[in-house]
Amino acid sequence: MMLNMSLTTTFGVYVHWPFCLSKCPYCDFNSHVRHGGIDEARFVRAYETEIAMTAGRVPGRTVSSIFFGGGTPSLMQPSSVQRILDCIGNHWTIAPDVEVTLEANPTSVEATRFRGFHAAGVSRVSLGVQSLDDAALKELGRLHTAREALDAVSIARSIFNRYSFDLIYARPRQTTEDWARELKRAVAEAAEHLSLYQLTIEPDTPFFGLHQAGKLPVPDDDLARELYDTTQTICGDAGLPAYEVSNHARPGAECRHNLVYWRGHDYAGVGPGAHGRLTIGGRRIATATEKRPEAWLMRVESLGSGLTVEEQLTPGEAADEYLLMGLRLAEGIDPARYTALAGRTLDPKRISALREQGAVETTADGRLRVTQSGFPLLDAVVADLAA
Ligand SMILES: C[S@@+](CC[C@H](N)C(=O)[O-])C[C@H]1O[C@@H](n2cnc3c(N)ncnc32)[C@H](O)[C@@H]1O
Ligand code: SF4
Repeated sequence: MMLNMSLTTTFGVYVHWPFCLSKCPYCDFNSHVRHGGIDEARFVRAYETEIAMTAGRVPGRTVSSIFFGGGTPSLMQPSSVQRILDCIGNHWTIAPDVEVTLEANPTSVEATRFRGFHAAGVSRVSLGVQSLDDAALKELGRLHTAREALDAVSIARSIFNRYSFDLIYARPRQTTEDWARELKRAVAEAAEHLSLYQLTIEPDTPFFGLHQAGKLPVPDDDLARELYDTTQTICGDAGLPAYEVSNHARPGAECRHNLVYWRGHDYAGVGPGAHGRLTIGGRRIATATEKRPEAWLMRVESLGSGLTVEEQLTPGEAADEYLLMGLRLAEGIDPARYTALAGRTLDPKRISALREQGAVETTADGRLRVTQSGFPLLDAVVADLAA
């Protein structure tokens, strides 16, 4: 019931800002450094054009969350954020309790813009603190110290009712004791939400090359599991349980925008390399735009949008995507919705087998979810159920 209602009323807008001051050696996000600067006003006009074009395809929606991600959206001028928000408001209805999140790098320069972002309508910031250890920050290629990051957190706290920050763990040479100490300090600085990501060695990044050459001694599987368990215990004790694999919040303070993705709702993707999922005429469409910023700009200027992918998902694909995203959440999935999407039920024999292994459980209200001990095996569980 709740899902049906929110399926029609929940709609997010993701705005990708693809520029960074420097490229971190672990990062494979669509982020680019432009030493000569960019024509920000021209880019903002292109975002406005793409928003108008998207709204023409899915008119009449009520926007419940907006997320400026990157890249580094905190490098934008607050007036640019304002124009994009105004444009979204001119083309769709904005829900009175809309959540507007902006990802920010915690440097002092960017913190000086926080007040301007707030005045523009941003209600929540997500800060990429990454570590509270200066040597680790240096190794991660970050341009800020731990002190500077904590200062940015405290400026965010004084301006926004809601903020979150990210840390990366399972870093080279990190011990469980180091991480426990760092995380406890982070928890003391956090209000309601923390994103805690295990370092992933992504192909085509400098970290990948170092790792291949044996120069990046990252934790083995056993230590990674210990670090994960430590994370769950410390955050659970602090009242910040995991509501998703890497995201922890006080109940009720979950990032609404991320819930849009994981609960399988619709969202528009705007900007270079942004992905979207739109239900049009009862069919779920996957969209993606040109990734290269200048190529995206020219495409929008000549065609009205940067779309390069527009693909109707088959019922099986839509259902598997719901499974893949929904099982990341502690609340799990609604099997009835899976059935409605797929046109078939989940295999009861496979569910039983996974239940016997202690990897999944069915809640009192009939939802299927991965257990705490099943989470480290999430990929295998999803593969098993989706096959
Ligand atoms: C789009 S990025 C961050 C935004 C912002 N530019 C920053 O770096 O502070 C979102 C988050 O993903 C995480 N992340 C990026 N690459 C990662 C990797 N290879 N392994 C683990 N976490 C990663 C970082 O914690 C980062 O803050
Ligand atoms: S981690 Fe953030 S700042 Fe670093 S390159 Fe990626 S998007 Fe840019």
